Amino acid sequence: MRNTSTQDLFSPLTLGPYSLSHRVVMPPLTRLRAQTDGSASDMMVTHYEQRTSKGGLIIIEAAAVSDKGSGYQGMPGIYDDRHILGFKRIADAIHAKGGIVFAQIIHTGRTNHIDLQPNGESPLAPSVVPYHGHAFLNGEFVPVSPSREMTIADIQDVVEQFRSAAARALAAGVDGIEIHSANGYLLDQFLQDGSNKRTDAYGGSVENRARFLLEVTKAAVSVWGPGRVGVRIGPSGTFNEMSDSNPLALFGYVAEQMNAFDLAYLHVIEPRVAGDVTKQNAENDEVVASKYLRTIYRGTLLAAGGFDRESANEIISKGDADLVAFGRYFTSNPDLPERLKQGYPLTAYERSAFWGGTERFYTDFQAYATQSVPDSMLTTA
Ligand SMILES: Cc1cc2nc3c(=O)[nH]c(=O)nc-3n(C[C@H](O)[C@H](O)[C@H](O)COP(=O)(O)O)c2cc1C
Repeated sequence: MRNTSTQDLFSPLTLGPYSLSHRVVMPPLTRLRAQTDGSASDMMVTHYEQRTSKGGLIIIEAAAVSDKGSGYQGMPGIYDDRHILGFKRIADAIHAKGGIVFAQIIHTGRTNHIDLQPNGESPLAPSVVPYHGHAFLNGEFVPVSPSREMTIADIQDVVEQFRSAAARALAAGVDGIEIHSANGYLLDQFLQDGSNKRTDAYGGSVENRARFLLEVTKAAVSVWGPGRVGVRIGPSGTFNEMSDSNPLALFGYVAEQMNAFDLAYLHVIEPRVAGDVTKQNAENDEVVASKYLRTIYRGTLLAAGGFDRESANEIISKGDADLVAFGRYFTSNPDLPERLKQGYPLTAYERSAFWGGTERFYTDFQAYATQSVPDSMLTTA
């Protein structure tokens, strides 16, 4: 029986086999600073180590399950055994400070460019529909290349790639994995009917469009067992040109199906953000938010998107979510859980350094106790 009446951001929580001492989660944040072969870089290890809190959950940025599944130069890979070591270094650094670490795994599908594909192949997509997204190449965002429709054999291959990536993450010693099925990447492209026009077993009905995600989830859970796989969905997300004719029915079905897997959590991006930008007047599209999915999904819910201290405490105390992720503020506040706990002001984030770059605005943000910036230059959350 869930007792929500006295919970807030700093109430402990049991997550699968893990004990969290608070509910402030660092969500996956792609920063495009991996080595050219897709291995984690030294500065990535430092970045995650700096953001570790005792008993806090960090989800490492999206790592590609296939060399056809990146689309962003500088994104880490987890499609080859050579990538295991880098993940192990990050996991060890987080564990040394008492943190809990999950790794997000992704296939970007149609958000890709032929110059990032093996042999200049076309990016993979559920269907060929007009799409104007961007890949990241040579330090800048560039229009994606035309994609090709996946065959059933392609789909089966990708399920196996997710399974192998899950096994590599396990070998690296992280505590769990998160399947990226949000923000308009491959699994989301299959879910939503704006991008999925297929007429086979993977298109058409809600059940068919969810089939790929459910197969991937089953494969991941077969590697990890209960309580150690999370799934991220963005039911109201419009980023990467996502749209669905009936998100309530689609994501209600997905949430209901997830009950069968004994996941660590279902990670829901709330309607108030589109990708990485806060939406204005989002109150009117609250329908497919954690609050609704809570009535369907029986496990742990992690909510993300546009939260501050007050709204995070509110959603937890109301019982509409169990955990809250803070994305952009984690980039510039390595000690974010402590700042939220104490009510300290926050350092503003630097959007120009989000994707690609050096240690600047990446590993040089200070904890509140040690920074020399006056409070008047900080913000509040
Ligand atoms: C720089 C940046 C990189 C991101 N990378 C990822 C990612 O790798 N995987 C993912 O699921 N979401 C990613 N997101 C989305 C965040 O996890 C989060 O949902 C979003 O920032 C909204 O939360 P916020 O309002 O607290 O920032 C990214 C966002 C930003 C700003």
